[in-house]
Amino acid sequence: MNVEEVLKLADKIVFSKTGRHLDDLQEAVLRGTLQREKYKEIAKDFDCSESRIREVGAELWQILSEQLGEEVSKSNFRSAMERWQNSIVLNFAQDVVVSDSFNICGESRHPPDIPNSNPHNEETSNTKQPQTLYQDLSEMPELGVLYDRTPELDTLTTWILQERCCLIALTGISGIGKTTLAAQLVQQIKDEFEYVIWCSLEASPTLAEFQYKLIQFLSQPEKLDSSTTNQKPLPLIKYLQKYRCFVVLDDVHKIFSSGELAGKYKPGYENYRSFFKQIEKLSHQSCFLLIGWEQPREISQVKSKNTPIRTLQLTGLDIAARRELLRDNGLEEIDDWDTLIHRYQGNPLCLKSVATLIQELGEGVTKLLPDDTLLLPEDLKDVLQQQCDRLSEIEKQALSLLAKESEPVNIAKLIENGTRPASDLRNALQSLLRRCLIGQQGSFYNLPLVVREYIKGL
Ligand SMILES: Nc1ncnc2c1ncn2[C@@H]1O[C@H](COP(=O)(O)OP(=O)(O)O)[C@@H](O)[C@H]1O
Ligand SMILES: [Mg+2]
Repeated sequence: MNVEEVLKLADKIVFSKTGRHLDDLQEAVLRGTLQREKYKEIAKDFDCSESRIREVGAELWQILSEQLGEEVSKSNFRSAMERWQNSIVLNFAQDVVVSDSFNICGESRHPPDIPNSNPHNEETSNTKQPQTLYQDLSEMPELGVLYDRTPELDTLTTWILQERCCLIALTGISGIGKTTLAAQLVQQIKDEFEYVIWCSLEASPTLAEFQYKLIQFLSQPEKLDSSTTNQKPLPLIKYLQKYRCFVVLDDVHKIFSSGELAGKYKPGYENYRSFFKQIEKLSHQSCFLLIGWEQPREISQVKSKNTPIRTLQLTGLDIAARRELLRDNGLEEIDDWDTLIHRYQGNPLCLKSVATLIQELGEGVTKLLPDDTLLLPEDLKDVLQQQCDRLSEIEKQALSLLAKESEPVNIAKLIENGTRPASDLRNALQSLLRRCLIGQQGSFYNLPLVVREYIKGL
């Protein structure tokens, strides 16, 4: 950073704290400091007393120390500003103004050299296994019986531990097992992290509320350390750099709008976009796993292996697991189990619900599921309704067009049958694919049987 850049950044930081830009004297003190001048020389240049310069300097170091979260003085002003610029800006809690002039493009994924003040943990090097310090899994559901998800667990583990991805989206239709899979993953890999937290976004927290909660959690060691009791918490990014943290955000669709194509932030929630962007771009050693029916568009669009972002679209349980699930849910194995096993695409919630219905009615599968019929118990309808209620009008139209087709159809056919412009329909199909509400085979689209049955019943 050159002198002018440092001064510009200092001005923003001071402004964010005091609401006033640097005055001439303050700027002269900072400029002189950057030019390695003594207070005496600065005083001479500015034609005022040395004590006045010292006073102004002390005031500036105080403001900068508070805002940067580290002791700033005349001797480390430039290096502190450079560290800050490299690690900026997740600190919405301290109202630091984010602007385009902040360079948020971290080239390397190595954390900056931040002194480790944590008394419980001597070493945070990547080569050593981190000692888990804190876990808050109070919002994570209890794990019950778990049917095999080995391939998915392996994939996620590789992305997180070996490839050190920092942002992973786990998506899939309701009931497919996203939350269950993530809970199992947390149990398997939590000891690789110093901090692990599971946050449900069910109550749609704003970014400020969510960050506050996270900072409260991550600043626990500082609070325990009596020498730092009165210190202000650091900006969030500092914790993500200093410690290896695993943050799971469940029900992430709660921050997106209903009635729009998938992944559009609700009004008042758009700042999550720059938050996720910073998690991707800034250099740190933590990982965020986002779970939900919808994902931020900026994540869904990324298909490159060269980024630290991945998406796993969860599909059904494998055949062996489906059998096990039905057996455990009280169904007796008979020849026509296959019908049941194939008709629900291995969605565990559907299989459980249908098994319960079959049991309660006390009739055989053949009788209840003749030919192509599909049982759709009320609880499943409720679950599908919750997801479908969020759709935009054009997506609803695309679904009803697809529901009329018995075979997969291409886009040309849908355009022919529909009333909306081709480009709108294409966007709707893309959005429905991201929500996992339609299937795709090459350039042909179809509806999963469960969704078809639900749409037909509307
Ligand atoms: N691998 C699995 N083994 C056993 N049960 C599962 C599995 N995956 C999901 N389930 C069950 O299916 C239901 C829906 O799972 P859940 O993880 O809540 O789905 P989602 O988060 O995708 O909506 C839950 O009752 C859960 O216990
Ligand atoms: Mg869930």
